[in-house]
Amino acid sequence: TLTPLILAGGSGTRLWPVSRDGMPKQFLPLAGERSTYQQALARVADPALFAPPIVITNEAFRFFALQQAEALGLTPTVVLEPARRDSAAAIAAGAAVAALRAPDAIVLAMAADHVILDEALYLDAVRAAEQAAAAGRVVTFGIRPTEPKTGYGYIRRGAALPVAGVFAVDAFVEKPDAATAADYVAAGYLWNSGNFVFRADVMAAELARFQPDLAEATQAAAAGAIADGHFQRLDAEAFGRAPRISIDYALMEKTEAAAVVESAFRWSDIGSWDAVFAIADHDRLGNAATGDAAIFDSKGCLVYSDDGLTVIDRIENLVVVSTPDAVLVADRSRSEDVKTLVNRLSNRR
Ligand code: GDD
Ligand code: MG
Repeated sequence: TLTPLILAGGSGTRLWPVSRDGMPKQFLPLAGERSTYQQALARVADPALFAPPIVITNEAFRFFALQQAEALGLTPTVVLEPARRDSAAAIAAGAAVAALRAPDAIVLAMAADHVILDEALYLDAVRAAEQAAAAGRVVTFGIRPTEPKTGYGYIRRGAALPVAGVFAVDAFVEKPDAATAADYVAAGYLWNSGNFVFRADVMAAELARFQPDLAEATQAAAAGAIADGHFQRLDAEAFGRAPRISIDYALMEKTEAAAVVESAFRWSDIGSWDAVFAIADHDRLGNAATGDAAIFDSKGCLVYSDDGLTVIDRIENLVVVSTPDAVLVADRSRSEDVKTLVNRLSNRR
């Protein structure tokens, strides 16, 4: 069976002031009643299709990870990282834990901060990816781009593989500049969704080839992990030796085993307030609201109210985010820039 590995250790500064270092976006109800972390757990909760999930996150988020799972009646294994080493080390260590559980494990590495709609289409894509992974591929889900975003990985699809819907990857380019991204969109490249399916032993072998230090450090960290109830603490000294690099740069740009299944399901990585707006339900004038909000004569606005009542009147295309200790009012189309704002704020203090 397929072992879900939920990556829940990232931050998410573009969703300030709601998402903070101490409370990152994957644990927040940004799209619906449940957090995207809970949505990820629920997506793979069917024991007929999936093995019990493994969650990997930072030590600091361990109670969010456990309690939000328990609220759904689930008790995953929660693997704790003693330091932040980005997604390659998280995937490598998580896959190593899965392999210690079952040496022939096939892993579905999932981002905890994505929204996926159309469950049936998603499960079809997962099935196809699992078959290609069983044959030794590292499979990603390709999304049809809607614009030349620079924050994504881009995939050039190659030859069809024996599994229907799965293709070799001819080129994988992580976070190209704007002009290159525009060329890629025009040339029919796909976005990398940032979710991967692979055999744990294949991941270990590919990393040993392209990132030998990272492979050694994460294997040792998993072998030396100490169980503490539902938590598993990776060996701190070993994990600390892992270089800080994302799986996209570390492996996906380099491996010849990459494959892609083109995905028909709706997907969002809710990376900015504009993305939260896009996936939300809209009223007649195209406004979206979360929490206690009153909207008068306004168009195209997002109101996120997590403290008291937020009222807007006669405004257009703004994001209004209200929290107990900070309020953000910004042009919706420029909400990618919130990350820069947050950096400027931390320099001011
Ligand atoms: N456990 C753990 N530890 N998880 C982590 C860590 C870490 O140190 N760093 C990141 N993650 C998790 C994040 O929570 C997220 O779920 C996932 O790994 C991807 O990390 P991001 O930091 O969000 O990557 P990105 O958005 O810049 O880029 C990735 O996703 C894009 C799609 O959203 C890449 O895979 C791109 O190629 C892809 O297009
Ligand atoms: Mg992301």
